[in-house]
Amino acid sequence: MHENTLPSFVQGLREDLRPIFSPRMLLSAWLPCLMITVLHYRTGEHHAWGHDILRRLYYLPILFAAFAGGVRGGVTLSVFASLVYLPHAFTRLLVQDPADALEKGLEILLYNIVAVVAGLLVDRERREREKQERLATRLGDALDEQRRMEAQLIRAGKLGALGEMTAGIAHEIKNPLHALKGTAEILRDAVPESVPERRMLELHIAEIDRLGQAADRFLSFARPISADRRPVDPRSLVDRVVALVSTQARREGVETVVATEGTADIPRVMGDPDLLVQLLLNVALNGVQAMTPEGGGTLTFSLGAEVQGGKEHVRMRVANTGPPIPGEDLERIFDPFYTTKDEGTGLGLSICARIADQHEGALTVRNLPEDRGVEFSLSLPAVGAGDG
Ligand SMILES: Nc1ncnc2c1ncn2[C@@H]1O[C@H](COP(=O)(O)OP(=O)(O)O)[C@@H](O)[C@H]1O
Ligand SMILES: [Mg+2]
Repeated sequence: MHENTLPSFVQGLREDLRPIFSPRMLLSAWLPCLMITVLHYRTGEHHAWGHDILRRLYYLPILFAAFAGGVRGGVTLSVFASLVYLPHAFTRLLVQDPADALEKGLEILLYNIVAVVAGLLVDRERREREKQERLATRLGDALDEQRRMEAQLIRAGKLGALGEMTAGIAHEIKNPLHALKGTAEILRDAVPESVPERRMLELHIAEIDRLGQAADRFLSFARPISADRRPVDPRSLVDRVVALVSTQARREGVETVVATEGTADIPRVMGDPDLLVQLLLNVALNGVQAMTPEGGGTLTFSLGAEVQGGKEHVRMRVANTGPPIPGEDLERIFDPFYTTKDEGTGLGLSICARIADQHEGALTVRNLPEDRGVEFSLSLPAVGAGDG
């Protein structure tokens, strides 16, 4: 809608002129210049030294204008000073000797040269400063990005080490457990059903099974997740998760909302759709569970695109109303086995974080302002032009 119409031209001109007529310029350049001119014209012919002083006083407002407005400000004022001084010098040219007139002419030339040189210096200085400021913000962005990656690496490293240890322990438990179960079954079969000890052996076997299941769970956490990555439309992922979660959500009195605003231009991501659905579903179910004690609430899915470290990323958000996560727990909820639920395993979010890491993405959490709930945010690199 920004055509080159007359109003937009006038608008542009006004923007250009604003610095030249800023209050600072008016006070330190225009007003002194006018005052000097008035004085100059009112000084009698015989006060030659007065004219000499006043003529040179013009340099002050010209320099001020260059300091405040660069070449543009300085030259505007030097041209103005030249024009108002010219008639004065010109009348003298007619009545007095040409050598004097030449001197006046040179003075006028000098006004403009001083304005250009001072203005150029000021402009160069300003450009240099702006360049430094731009560099500083870019450096700040890069540092933020590095901190984010460090945190992610620490998390990935912690998870990797923990995974290996868990797998080791689970293996050590599973082998003797196998033997225990076998012998317990033989013993159970040897004891007739009517004998009270038979019940104890059945309990014994049930507990061995429970321990075996726990070991299996730990092993499944420790197993490397293999991803089959291909370009995926993030909207299809959200749709699948919503279909899976909405039935349970409704049962708990939770409303599921998908924010569709601005989703037309969401690029695809490189990912394993099943793993990404698993991740989002885990997060969504946690959200529903977080709202359940009070009952009811809203689970909101939203999508966005943004540039991070020069690369395009897709951001998928899952937010739930309900109580915020206490500050000290925000750091720990991604840790394996960290849970606040009686029936929880504490593995959900740590697996989610591993899936995100594997996709070169990041899963983060924050409490929404004004106690509006909790928001998990998954950022994934978008499929670049060359990725198919
Ligand atoms: N949306 C949420 N709101 C509040 N707390 C949450 C939310 N999601 C996760 N949590 C906290 O993080 C903990 C770990 O979650 P998770 O790893 O999925 O394990 P689990 O669900 O088995 O407890 C939860 O026990 C809960 O305290
Ligand atoms: Mg969970």
